[in-house]
Amino acid sequence: DLPLRTLAREHGLGIGTAVDMTALDADPEYRSRVAREFSAVTAENVMKWESLEPARGEYNWAPADELVDFARRNGQKVHGHTLLWHNQLPAWLTQGVADGSISPAELRTIVRNHITTVVKHFRGKIRAWDVVNEAFTDGDSPVLRDTIFRQHLGPNYIADALRWAHAADPSAKLFLNDYATDNINPKSTAYYELAKQLLKQRVPLHGMGFQGHLDLQYPLPIDAPENLRRFDRLGLQTAFTEVDVRFFLPVDTYKTAGQVGSFNTLLQACLLTPRCVMFTVWGFSDKYSWVPGWFDGQGSATPMDENFQPKPAYRGLQQVLAVA
Ligand code: G3I
Repeated sequence: DLPLRTLAREHGLGIGTAVDMTALDADPEYRSRVAREFSAVTAENVMKWESLEPARGEYNWAPADELVDFARRNGQKVHGHTLLWHNQLPAWLTQGVADGSISPAELRTIVRNHITTVVKHFRGKIRAWDVVNEAFTDGDSPVLRDTIFRQHLGPNYIADALRWAHAADPSAKLFLNDYATDNINPKSTAYYELAKQLLKQRVPLHGMGFQGHLDLQYPLPIDAPENLRRFDRLGLQTAFTEVDVRFFLPVDTYKTAGQVGSFNTLLQACLLTPRCVMFTVWGFSDKYSWVPGWFDGQGSATPMDENFQPKPAYRGLQQVLAVA
């Protein structure tokens, strides 16, 4: 009964989980599972801007540093999440922009300083950064989301952010990250066009993240292999960065089977893609998952139950890694 990280190593694949730092501190069982099963970790919250800089100019590094230390002790890579996102921004920033006390020019300086400070702080310790998270809108004609960054730094803010991050740690791999991009659809195509355009402009972009928050109500992303392959052909790394599979409770055998198939589809897509470097789940136990708090009536979205017992989804991942 080999841990996922041992099985994944045979493929040169990093297998990761989002880490809830409150759980890591309080729950020894959780801690030992993170160490045993995974070769990569992503901070679920503590590397986001509101956590790192709750008051202007006052950085709170401790929880993020603790995760980086934990990872080093356990031979794990760290996936940095995330430098620029329109959610979980500190109130001083959003309020200052809203009331005009932070001008567009000042916002540009603040963003540049934030990226530089954070990336330098972790220089050499973070394998890859999600530099910009969830830049696109949803629907049939996705465009760059109308965030404070897009509004005040202009549409080239993504290229700027990538350049600033690269200057601060030239060896970190720089990723974009987005959801609902797992199969071939208008959003993943917009995502692909952006990647192509950035590479053409010689912007330091090294990889594309596909979150993989699946929902059994929606069709399985069966064309995920073809989707990843088109990014791979650009010479970019790819990764599933936040996989979970939610459904309406209660659990039954059909939903369980559907969940196994969903996890396996994404893992197989990664294994079929030469430069797919990481498969990360957004929490590995139902004891700590964002899903029930966000989707009324849904849950059971991770590979282990509340008592850290492997579910069929966990066995499925093991089997795919063992035979592939
Ligand atoms: O830390 C505060 C705590 O001080 C406060 O008392 C409590 C009361 O609500 O909130 C705590 O913050 C919560 C935080 O998680 C830490 O637990 C926030 O309310 C809550 O909104 C936040 O949710 C996170 C969510 O991002 C916010 O956007 C989830 O844990 C996290 O799993 C989720 O992760 C995102 C990825 O970053 C990007 N992709 C989608 C993914 C799922 O939404």
